Amino acid sequence: MAIDFKQRIASVKDFPNEGITFRDITPILQDGELYRAATHELAEYAKSRNADVIVGPEARGFIVGCPVATELGVGFVPARKPHKLPREVERASYDLEYGSNVLEMHKDAIKPGQRVVICDDLMATAGTLHATKELVERLGGEVVGAAFYIELTNLKGRSMFPDTDIFSLVKYD
Ligand code: ADE
Repeated sequence: MAIDFKQRIASVKDFPNEGITFRDITPILQDGELYRAATHELAEYAKSRNADVIVGPEARGFIVGCPVATELGVGFVPARKPHKLPREVERASYDLEYGSNVLEMHKDAIKPGQRVVICDDLMATAGTLHATKELVERLGGEVVGAAFYIELTNLKGRSMFPDTDIFSLVKYD
């Protein structure tokens, strides 16, 4: 029987701001079998896209993307918050469901032509995806897919990327 991931996501009203329902994935992470199953689903997706490398934005993209990369035996590249990476970086800024932020990647993190799957816990307005994709492309990589545990469909992030293949385990509207 298919695993019911949605049943194990905690929904917290008015966090971190009034009007936001926070979708909390930590119950999945706490359960070794579930975390492995969620990782496996994303890894199968990334394999189907022939990914050479996984890119994950800080911070939850690390939690989601690193085990996907190790399952596939491909590299993992972090997209980090400003001033965390020690060498020369590319930088892009983005707006979120609440607030905005900036991401950086090392300039030599992606080899030209590498096929990249971006992994993160949740797609809301897709601002994070937008910035991460822009960074990958500026470094010469090709974003062949994006994979999430959760997609908030009412925020229509997917429609911002008509040419990008997007996979999600669980959808909320
Ligand atoms: N990131 C952006 N929106 C979110 C939400 N509703 N729940 C959890 N993480 C989020």
